[in-house]
Amino acid sequence: MTETRSMAVIGAGTMGRGIAQVFAQAGFTVGLFDTMPAALDAATGLIEKMLDRSVQKGRMSAEDAAATKGRITAVHNVADLGPQSLIVEAIVEIPEAKIELLRSVQSLLTDDGILASNTSSISITRLAAATERPERFIGMHFFNPVPVMKLVEVVRGLQTSDETAERTIALATAVGKTPVSCKDHPGFISNRVLMPMINEAIFAMQDGVAEAKAIDDIMTLGMNHPMGPLALADLIGLDVCLDIMSVIFRDLGEDRYRPCPLLKKMVAAGRLGRKTKQGFYSYE
Ligand code: NAI
Repeated sequence: MTETRSMAVIGAGTMGRGIAQVFAQAGFTVGLFDTMPAALDAATGLIEKMLDRSVQKGRMSAEDAAATKGRITAVHNVADLGPQSLIVEAIVEIPEAKIELLRSVQSLLTDDGILASNTSSISITRLAAATERPERFIGMHFFNPVPVMKLVEVVRGLQTSDETAERTIALATAVGKTPVSCKDHPGFISNRVLMPMINEAIFAMQDGVAEAKAIDDIMTLGMNHPMGPLALADLIGLDVCLDIMSVIFRDLGEDRYRPCPLLKKMVAAGRLGRKTKQGFYSYE
């Protein structure tokens, strides 16, 4: 099957704008929609800034940057996206919001169109079941920052067809990413392995085994991780870490996934990491 070189991204936040940029850089015509006009303006401004920086650093020609910018159209009305063979949603991580959105945009899909979600923790099978064609629904989990990170975790729901999975893998490859597949299960692979590691580092801190910096130093110097688990938690946002850990604990039901009380306490105190300038480290 030949894919048309056009797609749409819904949600123009941190992830959506990155996804729009990588598809546009790969030659796709991209429609970008967000309910907040300010988010759309900010997204197009930030994408332009990223592309200009690539030109300054000699990674991209000025012509390519201009062409990439020209391929992205921000729309204020979702219907203006027109018919699409690929729609990737990257709106807020709230199941009800995603289900409502997916129901309303599925009519924009061409007959063989693929609807993908960038969710990091919601069940793909559950989201798919809310759509008319669950066999054409899939998880396309990009990583932050999208233009830099190579991985796309391709998550197959219970009803995702082989053809949808194969085409999604081909699309991820076409935009220069490395797709890795897994089945729909709480946390998929990325967060099922990462979040318990972060949670355990917080338990170690709570137990007084070592200070934050020592825990991180042990993981960077001893395990060659580019960043320690506590610094990474601050970067991701402690509220996001708690939400994902809570989903994994609730859905897998095993005590080993219990969110650490210190993590809960930090979130309750509003110490969410870099975004509030206070987490396991201070960013004042
Ligand atoms: P964000 O908060 O930066 O952006 C979300 C955007 O969606 C906002 O601009 C908001 O106005 C918009 N939005 C909300 N409801 C909408 C609707 N009904 N229709 C259209 N736009 C709507 O969030 P972020 O971080 O970009 O996350 C988006 C998704 O990506 C979430 O599902 C998240 O779990 C997932 N994700 C996030 C990662 C991260 O590091 N931030 C990494 C991988 C996945």
